[in-house]
Amino acid sequence: GGAVTNRPATSAAGAESRFLKALSGEVQTVPPVWLMRQAGRYLPEYRELRARAGSFLDLCYTPEFATEVTLQPIRRFALDAAILFSDILVVPHALGQEVRFVEGEGPRLDPVASLAEFAQLREEIDLGFLAPVYETVARVRAALDPEVALIGFCGAPYTVATYMVGGRGGDEQAAARKLAYREPETFQALIDRLVEASVAHLLAQVRAGAQAVQVFDSWSGDLPPAEFARWSTEPIRAICVKVKAAAPEVKVIAFARGAGAKLADFAAAVPADAFGLATAENRTAARAAVPAGVALQGNVDPIALVAGGAALDAAVDGVLADLGHGPLIVNLGHGVRQETPPEHVAQMVARVRRG
Ligand code: CP3
Repeated sequence: GGAVTNRPATSAAGAESRFLKALSGEVQTVPPVWLMRQAGRYLPEYRELRARAGSFLDLCYTPEFATEVTLQPIRRFALDAAILFSDILVVPHALGQEVRFVEGEGPRLDPVASLAEFAQLREEIDLGFLAPVYETVARVRAALDPEVALIGFCGAPYTVATYMVGGRGGDEQAAARKLAYREPETFQALIDRLVEASVAHLLAQVRAGAQAVQVFDSWSGDLPPAEFARWSTEPIRAICVKVKAAAPEVKVIAFARGAGAKLADFAAAVPADAFGLATAENRTAARAAVPAGVALQGNVDPIALVAGGAALDAAVDGVLADLGHGPLIVNLGHGVRQETPPEHVAQMVARVRRG
């Protein structure tokens, strides 16, 4: 399976999808595998298309290109799930914030650092502006075999807010954290707006054909427990509840990267179908922290994927041994790195499927 064929847009990943079975709590001899950032610069066919597309955002907003890039890793590696090629920062873009990607540096936004600047944003996300993203979802779903699931995504409100307030990543997200301490009402209003925008964005992806959605909280792990509960757990809980109320069939994966000892409270509050584990998490502790029957996703070290060889096999075997007795989705603990040899991804998939 895993080949790319033409299917009607209505076809959804069927009952035989290993990925959807894991999200329904099934324990499988061969668990599903996909990788965060499975499309991207480590693939020569991505670099070739990226050079033709122009900017990264042009690539994201051109359905023909974004569809092709989403399918590239599926063709090469027959992964169990495709993830929409887009970015978490399309949400602030569709709220009216200026967003650009500087070559070799990363995202740059015109910072929203005060109540006055916050007031300049749209109250509701402009879903029409993101129509090319939803068209990409429909095109990808139509092109995938039924057993390959399609994942939509958004950034968690906290992580997206750190880019909106700081204008860029880095510096321990200090700009956003200062605003949250000094003007909690302003920061809360921004988080609340992002909860609503994220729900609308995720539901539009589900309507277009996504069967599961992942919420990426890349930076909340750094927060102290009380701030983590307020700015990470509560908004992700709200998103999860609202998405499931509107689309009960959709599966939700919550990834609070580096939650560590905060995972138990997070998993008790958030009604997700799976929790993502970052590279450094203790898997045995994580299994005990998450309700039985709820899937875990992770957490092979992306650097072991770069190294390959026996170290990669051992890293995969460790995940299977520690988590394979419960519902499991094999993945990395963070995204694929640019210097990863593509053949190491093939090795990882083969190692998982050996079972
Ligand atoms: O997983 C996938 O393959 C789907 C696509 C995807 C991208 N970004 C594509 C991308 C997803 C799910 C994301 C999520 C994302 N984006 C996160 C959360 C996950 C994480 O990695 O922690 C964050 C924090 C962002 C914001 C972002 N986008 C940054 C900080 C950067 C610059 C860093 C970098 O690697 O260049 C991006 C750019 C980006 N997003 C690229 C890709 C493939 C590189 C763009 C290029 O080709 O130059």
